[in-house]
Amino acid sequence: MTTTQARTLGLGFIGLGQAVNLILRRKAEIESLPYRIVAAAERGDRISALATFEKEFGGKGYTSVEALCEDPDVDVIYVGTLPDQRLAHVELAAQAGKHIIVEKPMAGSVADGLRMVDIADAHSVKLLAGHTHSFDAPIRHMEDVIRSSELGSLLSILSFNYNDFSVRPWPNRELQASRGPVLNQGPHQVDIVRQLAGGLVKSVRASTIWDDLRDCEGGYNCHLLFEDGVSALLSFDARGLFDSGELFGWIGEGGQQKQPGGAVAMRENFVSLKANSSSLDELDAQLEAQKEQGRYGASATSDEAMRLFGYTGGVPVHQPFFGYTLASCQRGVIRQSPDGIVVYGERGPTERPTQRTLNGRAAELMEMYDAITEDRPLFHDGRWGLATLEVCLGMLESAATGTEIPMTHQVASRGSDA
Ligand SMILES: NC(=O)c1ccc[n+]([C@@H]2O[C@H](COP(=O)([O-])OP(=O)(O)OC[C@H]3O[C@@H](n4cnc5c(N)ncnc54)[C@H](O)[C@@H]3O)[C@@H](O)[C@H]2O)c1
Repeated sequence: MTTTQARTLGLGFIGLGQAVNLILRRKAEIESLPYRIVAAAERGDRISALATFEKEFGGKGYTSVEALCEDPDVDVIYVGTLPDQRLAHVELAAQAGKHIIVEKPMAGSVADGLRMVDIADAHSVKLLAGHTHSFDAPIRHMEDVIRSSELGSLLSILSFNYNDFSVRPWPNRELQASRGPVLNQGPHQVDIVRQLAGGLVKSVRASTIWDDLRDCEGGYNCHLLFEDGVSALLSFDARGLFDSGELFGWIGEGGQQKQPGGAVAMRENFVSLKANSSSLDELDAQLEAQKEQGRYGASATSDEAMRLFGYTGGVPVHQPFFGYTLASCQRGVIRQSPDGIVVYGERGPTERPTQRTLNGRAAELMEMYDAITEDRPLFHDGRWGLATLEVCLGMLESAATGTEIPMTHQVASRGSDA
C-alpha cells in the first residue's frame, strides 16, 4: 500500500447518503489517503448536505450528476446512490472518462452489470466493485494459506452470519428491493467464499427464509459448487434475533467492540414505528425519516441514527468480522480469530496473527489508487462484481424454482496480492 506518493487523485461522490457518510465521518482516515476530496453531487432537496460538504471538505457541490462528471478536478467517482440508479450514474461517469467505484450490490440485474463492465471497457476507465468483506485482512490471510498448498487442496467452506441487518430502519421499499439481506449482505459473503475458493462458481442451489416482521426474505441457505469440485455452504439470518458476534467476543463488522444486545433496541425501534403507523406509507415515511438522519449532512442526531443502523462508531480494536468462515483443506482447517487466523493442522491449532491493514472503503480507495497510479488491474473489478451479483441473483432464482442454477459469468480470483 502506497500512501506516500506525491501524486494525489481527485475524489468525487454521487450521493451523500449513508454509505458515503460512513466514509466521510472517518475524516482523519480519508484525509490520510492520497486523495483530494473535490466534489459531490446530491439531489436538490438535500442541498444543505452539499453546503455542509463544501464547508467541511472545501469541495464543490453539484445538484447535477452530469456537472460533477464534467469537473476536471475529479479523477475517481464513488457512486453511492441506490442500486436502481447506479447504471445511469456509472454510464455518465465512464463517458466523462472517470474511474469508478460502485457500492454493493453492483447492479440490480446481470444485464445492468454487464453493461457497466462494457461501458467501463469502452471508455478505458477502471471499475471497482466496492464494499466487500473479502478485502478483510484475515480473509486474504486465509486465502494465502490455501493458495500456498501448505494444507493440501481446499475441499470445502462453511460461512455463516447471523446479524441485525433486517431490523435496522431501512425503508420497506429499499429492504424489499434488496430482498432483505440477499442482495445487500449476500455480496459480502459470496465474495468471501469466492475469494477463498478461487472465484469460479459452477452452480448455485439455495432456499430463503421469510421474515414476518419485515415482510421479505430474512436470510438464506445456499450451496455453491465450484468448477474444481470445491463446495461451500453459506448461511445468513439477518432478523436480529441472534448475532454470531456473540460467538466471537462481540467483535463488529469493522473490528470495533460491539455492545451485546444492540439488535434488541433496533428491533424495538422498528416494532414501535410499525405499531404507531396507520398505513404502510406512513411506516415508510417514518423509516425514511430515520434513514435521513444517518445520511451525510444530517443533524446532530446523526450518531444516534447511525447506532440504529448498527454502526457503533468505535475505533477498530481487532480485525473486522463478518461472520464465521471455516475452510477445510486436505490436511487442516482454517478459521479467522479476532486478530488473525487459526490453522488447525495435523499437530493441533496454531494462531497466526494477521497484520492490521486499512479496512473497508479506505482499503478499496487505496486499491483504486494503486491500480491507477501503477497501471495495474484491480483486485475486484467489474467482472468480479458481476460474477458475485450473478451468484446472489442465482440464489433467488434457485429459491423460487427449487432448481440448481448454472453460472455463466464467473471469473477467477486474481489472488490477494494482485
Ligand atoms: N447505508 C449503509 O449503511 C450502507 C452500507 C453499505 C453499503 N451500502 C450501499 O450503498 C448504496 C447506497 O445506500 P445508502 O444506504 O447510502 O442509500 P442512501 O439513500 O442513504 O443514499 C443515496 C443518496 O443518493 C442521493 N441521490 C439520489 N439520487 C441522486 C441523484 N440523481 N444525484 C445525486 N444524488 C442522488 C440521495 O439523496 C441519497 O443521499 C446501496 O447500494 C447500499 O447497498 C449502504
